[in-house]
Amino acid sequence: MDLSFTEEQRLIQQTARDFAVREVAPKARELDLEGRWPTELVARMGELGLMGVAVPSEWGGTGADTVSYVLAMEEVSRACASTGVIMSVNNSLVCDPLLKYGNDAQKRDYLTPLASGQKLGCFGLTEPASGSDASQMETIAVDAGDHWVLDGAKNWITNGPKADTILVFASHDRAAGAKGTTAFIVDKSTPGFTLNKPDHKLGIHAAHSCTMFFEGCKIPKSQQLGEKGAGFKIAMSTLDGGRIGIASQALGIARAAYEKALAYSKERKAFGKPLADKQAIQFMLADMATELDAARLLTLRAATMKDKGVRHTSESAVAKLYASEMCTRVAHKALQIHGGYGYSTEYDAERHYRDARITEIYEGTSEIQRIVIAANALKA
Ligand code: CAA
Repeated sequence: MDLSFTEEQRLIQQTARDFAVREVAPKARELDLEGRWPTELVARMGELGLMGVAVPSEWGGTGADTVSYVLAMEEVSRACASTGVIMSVNNSLVCDPLLKYGNDAQKRDYLTPLASGQKLGCFGLTEPASGSDASQMETIAVDAGDHWVLDGAKNWITNGPKADTILVFASHDRAAGAKGTTAFIVDKSTPGFTLNKPDHKLGIHAAHSCTMFFEGCKIPKSQQLGEKGAGFKIAMSTLDGGRIGIASQALGIARAAYEKALAYSKERKAFGKPLADKQAIQFMLADMATELDAARLLTLRAATMKDKGVRHTSESAVAKLYASEMCTRVAHKALQIHGGYGYSTEYDAERHYRDARITEIYEGTSEIQRIVIAANALKA
């Protein structure tokens, strides 16, 4: 297995690292405490080519690969998990399916502005009454000849309050379950489309999410993405890529927590010596470093498979499951190493601890990842 990166991959990683260290990290605590959407950072990510990393340049993107994308995601999320997930949703959950399933007109009108960062996208799958059981959606699409009519609601939609373009999955035949689902590209200006106020959450405070409502929304047939009835497979294959993005976000959060705990253990004295002299602390740091390495290798394996065009459903789920649970464990230990200061908002340890937790939930809970991994293992 070749673990070296190409010049282009290293360049994108360095670009993301410079941006994250100089522009994102200094603001991360304030963004979290104030719950402020990072308008200026989202605009900068567009300028730097981070909003459509793996989209070809003819469609507004950087024309790089998934490995470059995960390297960049880790750097941005290391500085600010909220900024990381804003980037992840636009790249993995919106640009990726538009590139894979969109026709040229859809790529020109929707993908190009999204990948270049002029517009922002979000992914409307989850509903108030269906999350893990995504095929049970209640949002309905009725065929009205030259257009569709959408009615329903989607919730926990990351980027929702700021998105220009919403990728919406709706059922045109509820009895058909997954096979009765179709995907649609919806403009925020569509009459009948409204938003609830942003959600209050445990972490990722600067990445706003909300519930959105569709009441008699007329969607031209030209905004149907992919074939009628292909919506569920589009959603699932999109999440195969999205889960690699969340694994990278988890890596970034965990790396930040680990690095800060390592530095703190050398500075802080207890019983007359640095904390780092204590074997109890050394063992924690060793476990954190080992788990980070393991998660990074799993994430890069899934990204490499995606780049080779190989089915990576199980490998993405493995990477997301391990990286997200690793992230929680690492953030927990990092806070513990900081002691009482770790519990205070004066230090970042508590932010990383809160931000870590969502990585085990969105884009498929840990339980869903285990279902996907087991299903693939059993049918092999
Ligand atoms: N790629 C392509 N096709 C796939 C697929 C994949 N990864 N996974 C399933 N399919 C296909 C199946 O082959 C099947 O097709 P056939 O009938 O033709 O064989 C069809 O889809 C239905 O598959 P299942 O029977 O396996 O479907 P299911 O209803 O049992 O659901 C599930 C399976 C794994 C539980 C799925 O519902 C799931 O992943 N749920 C979690 C949803 C999720 O991750 N939501 C996250 C929301 S997005 C988000 O969080 C964004 C954010 O805020 C950041």
